[in-house]
Amino acid sequence: KTTSTHLYTIVVLGASGDLAKKKTFPALFGLYKNNYLSHQTRIIGYARTKMDQATFEGHVSKYIKLKSDEDNAALKDFLKLCSYVSGQYDKDADFQNLEVRISEVEKTSGAEARLFYMALPPSVFIPVSESLKKNNYKEGKIIRLIVEKPFGMDLESSRKLARELGALFSEEEIYRIDHYLGKEMVKNLMILRFANAIFGSVWNRHSIDNVQITFKEKIGTEGRGGYFDEFGIIRDVMQNHLLQILTLVAMEPPVSLDAEDVRDEKVKVLRFISPIEKDDVLLGQYGKSEDGKELGYLDDKTVPKGSKTPTYAAATLFINNERWSGVPFVLKCGKALNQQKTEIRIQFKDVVGNLFKSLSRNEIVIRVQPGEAVYVKMMNKEPGLGMKTIISDLDLSYSSRFNDSVIPEAYESLILDALNGDHSNFVRDDELDAAWKIFTPILKTIDEGHIDPVTYPYGSRGPAGVTEFVAKYGYHRGSQEYVWPQHS
Ligand code: BG6
Repeated sequence: KTTSTHLYTIVVLGASGDLAKKKTFPALFGLYKNNYLSHQTRIIGYARTKMDQATFEGHVSKYIKLKSDEDNAALKDFLKLCSYVSGQYDKDADFQNLEVRISEVEKTSGAEARLFYMALPPSVFIPVSESLKKNNYKEGKIIRLIVEKPFGMDLESSRKLARELGALFSEEEIYRIDHYLGKEMVKNLMILRFANAIFGSVWNRHSIDNVQITFKEKIGTEGRGGYFDEFGIIRDVMQNHLLQILTLVAMEPPVSLDAEDVRDEKVKVLRFISPIEKDDVLLGQYGKSEDGKELGYLDDKTVPKGSKTPTYAAATLFINNERWSGVPFVLKCGKALNQQKTEIRIQFKDVVGNLFKSLSRNEIVIRVQPGEAVYVKMMNKEPGLGMKTIISDLDLSYSSRFNDSVIPEAYESLILDALNGDHSNFVRDDELDAAWKIFTPILKTIDEGHIDPVTYPYGSRGPAGVTEFVAKYGYHRGSQEYVWPQHS
């Protein structure tokens, strides 16, 4: 195990917010506990709320899961590294106050690098960046800035943000998080594709009929309806998490694993995708559950009356290059559905000839979560006399194959990358630009109210028409008798 090459002071801006509590602090603790964070590191929380040290420690620990006495002891030590400074997001005096604290801790720790983690609402993003640049940017120190989505609302606002941020910090210093890039199975995609001859040679339009990338969540938008309504599911999940997965599934092999080589290929594949057409989209919005126990999206008081914001979306993208021309990539995501899962399903073409009847298509399924797995659905001879075919699978389920490995949290993996100065799993500015180009026209059509979402019951499979939608792009459901054994 190696800690990062530099010694850091980590400043978490927005330290009293949900993201910091749920993701940032638990990830920092995870790194600390597993000796990836030097014990000399100091962590400073900054936010507007006035808090004493004890209250702040309560915030930091709230979502940290402790499984043993060692964890308890580790947390106690971890909290000794953490302190808090309160201040406004646009007052120089407050950031100078923060600077006093940073200098104090650096005097003892000797840290030569600073990581600013922006767990902030978009409205204060630029004021905070300006204040940091003015008051906390020290020549001679290594500076890294982790930023979180939303990166704008569309191409224009994203470019404005990029310009403003770019005037303050260099692309080298900026780490745009898409936390799906830190997930184990998403990181596995490059290895699956480029380290296996059996996959590499069939990964194209000659063998593959269609690709489905699906994100399902059981929970609705309870508690964050106000935020969500401005964005909708396409900006919340599809334009970033699902599109990132798509680029890794579809890109050409990079020249090397170097961050710029990888990101060059990702940008290239995005540039081959035309903007999404209205006919290639299906939108939904959840209503009450069938038993009436769960409220519908519009029943949330923070959601504007009559809102047409989608909580479910399916959209089909086409990559107009030699490898993928004509292969539909169907992205589906939704909240308040019947199950929680994210998976990639690569469906192959029918077998040619008529030697056997009623065959199901081959599929490579990459289960991102929960229950990480890669399995290949394939036809087999049903054991016994005769020559009957049966669908079966080659199943690499992590829980049985790698049962004593711990799968790191996405945020742990990404924060460690940022500390090490590795940009491979962060979004580059031109990548973001290319992503917005694909989605901006359809988002405009939706924002103007030209597409009515189909209401679906809370806890259902999604809006009526999903099955027909995927069938329209060639997806065959296959034998209903087949159930993946690990299916939960
Ligand atoms: C976030 C979205 O980016 O990703 C949330 O804003 C969504 O709406 C979340 O719930 C899903 O992340 P995960 O890691 O829980 O699958």
